[in-house]
Amino acid sequence: MSRRNRWIWVLIFMVIIIPALCIEAKQDPYAAKKKRMSDKVRRMFYHAYDSYMMYAFPHDELKPLTKTFTDSLSELGNLRLEHLPQEYNGSALTLIESLSSLAILGNHTEFEKAVLWLSENLKFDVDARINLFECNIRVLGGLVSAHILATDSTNRLAKGMYKNELLLLAEELGQRFLPAFDTPTGLPYAWINLKHGVMDNEITETSTSGCGSLILEMGALSHLTGDPRFESAALRALRKLWSMRSSLNLLGTTLDVETGEWIEYSSGIGAGVDSFYEYLLKAHILFGREEYWRMFQSAYLAVQKYFRHGPWYHEADMRTGRATFWQLTSLQAFWPGLQVLVGDIAAANSSHREFFHVWQKFGVLPERYLLDHQMLHPTEKYYPLRPELAESTFFLYQATKDPWYLEVGESIVDSLNLHTRVEGGFASIRDVTTMELEDHQHSFFLAETCKYLYLLFDDSFLVNQNYIFTTEGHPLPILSSWQERLPVAYIPSNWTSVKSGYQPKRASAMSLRMCPANCGNELLQSACHIPDFQADHRCVTDEDCGIDSTSCRRRSCSMAGFCGLWLSI
Ligand SMILES: *[C@@H]1O[C@H](CO)[C@@H](O)[C@H](O)[C@H]1NC(C)=O
Ligand SMILES: *[C@@H]1O[C@H](CO)[C@@H](O)[C@H](O)[C@H]1NC(C)=O
Ligand SMILES: *[C@@H]1O[C@H](CO)[C@@H](O)[C@H](O)[C@H]1NC(C)=O
Ligand SMILES: *[C@@H]1O[C@H](CO)[C@@H](O)[C@H](O)[C@H]1NC(C)=O
Repeated sequence: MSRRNRWIWVLIFMVIIIPALCIEAKQDPYAAKKKRMSDKVRRMFYHAYDSYMMYAFPHDELKPLTKTFTDSLSELGNLRLEHLPQEYNGSALTLIESLSSLAILGNHTEFEKAVLWLSENLKFDVDARINLFECNIRVLGGLVSAHILATDSTNRLAKGMYKNELLLLAEELGQRFLPAFDTPTGLPYAWINLKHGVMDNEITETSTSGCGSLILEMGALSHLTGDPRFESAALRALRKLWSMRSSLNLLGTTLDVETGEWIEYSSGIGAGVDSFYEYLLKAHILFGREEYWRMFQSAYLAVQKYFRHGPWYHEADMRTGRATFWQLTSLQAFWPGLQVLVGDIAAANSSHREFFHVWQKFGVLPERYLLDHQMLHPTEKYYPLRPELAESTFFLYQATKDPWYLEVGESIVDSLNLHTRVEGGFASIRDVTTMELEDHQHSFFLAETCKYLYLLFDDSFLVNQNYIFTTEGHPLPILSSWQERLPVAYIPSNWTSVKSGYQPKRASAMSLRMCPANCGNELLQSACHIPDFQADHRCVTDEDCGIDSTSCRRRSCSMAGFCGLWLSI
């Protein structure tokens, strides 16, 4: 390059690039913080991932203190560790769970390497009894999501390298699930042996989430393969479960799949039930079926009526609605994130704040906290690197852009690094009062905790496509081709565009969602986040709120100034 050319480049840099960078910085005063924090989360993910690859792969999960592995897929949900397989050498569970996170971090080479390794080596013809729910959300969900990411338009894989192997594996796994659904009620067994099917004298007890949150993964599998059996089995189970609700629209926590009778009548929004609610709404968003929305609406109303006490949620008896246990469980922290998707931002914000205060009190969120005594549960004092609070923080930031949530995220990141990072990865906490560690790095730390923290600070993955996240944090794209046609009744007859006269700004990447089918083939505002257009993110009248793009229904403005599909109580 000649001297003169060099000067021209310097000039171009000064005149065009520097001002561009400044404008960029001006647009988002938090850009520097976000960059610093997303880099920090990226380093966390790679520390967890590289340690797994070094000490545990191709086994299921890493034991970070002893730097060895555990073949834990057969132990998940198996508290008494019964019927453990003799000959099972793992399914590379943590690698499967890392695929979508690698794609979100933009590591195409490692994503490709992992996809090719799994294509050649993963086998499901193994004599291992596994938990249907866990295997569905982690393995089937991980594979289906990664298949979609491998075949979308971003060219993550070198051309011609990938021949749908992950989808074929997912299909094989889905077929191995089907015998579990062969019960008089259609409700699936909680356990199935991958090689031999349902075992003799298998336990008939399962949980509400165990049989009510299969529809996203199995529905997606049917859409991708054209084989309707997966979606039908999951839907039949979901309908049966819903038919077992009480007159208060409440469900219990555990039930018998042979008789269809409840075993545990007390339930809440935490363990054993949580993802049932989550999947009703997300199935509606992904597949556009009105039925899911009707179920969700009734179920959500009942939760708010019988479980909620101010910002807290307790448990109640499904038959009477009477409160049973006054406890905060760590899994409940996903609820505010779900509320963001409904547009119930104010309620989400207040619960999230209280949950974060408990996090601050202990340094992490304990598994169970007794609300009536303001103290820890005597035995459940652990924190196994769970993602739920980070997940809700991500959703609330997407919806409100309130920078306070970035601080929450930073505080979560700092606690994780301070208390759980060890030389061999990230370790769970056995007791939050002593911060004694446990030798286990759960695969969901890579699939969810790191992913949601990263997306909080860098959501560029979401810019061109709307996704919903499965309960294990695996993204599934929202495609109009997967959506059922909406009943004409939901489309206002005189409706032409969201609102003429102004161009609604996107509040977040998630608000790019297309309205399904015949809403006029146009981009609509999203149901996710509502205040799309005013500086203070608040609406004044119903007119400000436009139409909800998942249902095409009109949204209204709440007293607090948020748009939403307010459920009439
Ligand atoms: C598991 O690994 C052991 C030891 O390497 C090996 O002997 C056994 O055949 C393996 N089992 C299976 C089912 O691959
Ligand atoms: C992708 O991941 C691998 C394995 O951790 C790492 O060696 C590589 O540097 C990463 N690449 C990028 C671009 O981050
Ligand atoms: C959340 O609640 C806090 C405290 O009540 C309030 O200051 C803040 O504005 C709220 N944020 C949103 C987005 O509602
Ligand atoms: C559409 O109809 C509604 C109710 O009938 C009316 O309030 C609204 O002004 C109409 N909108 C347009 C753009 O004509």
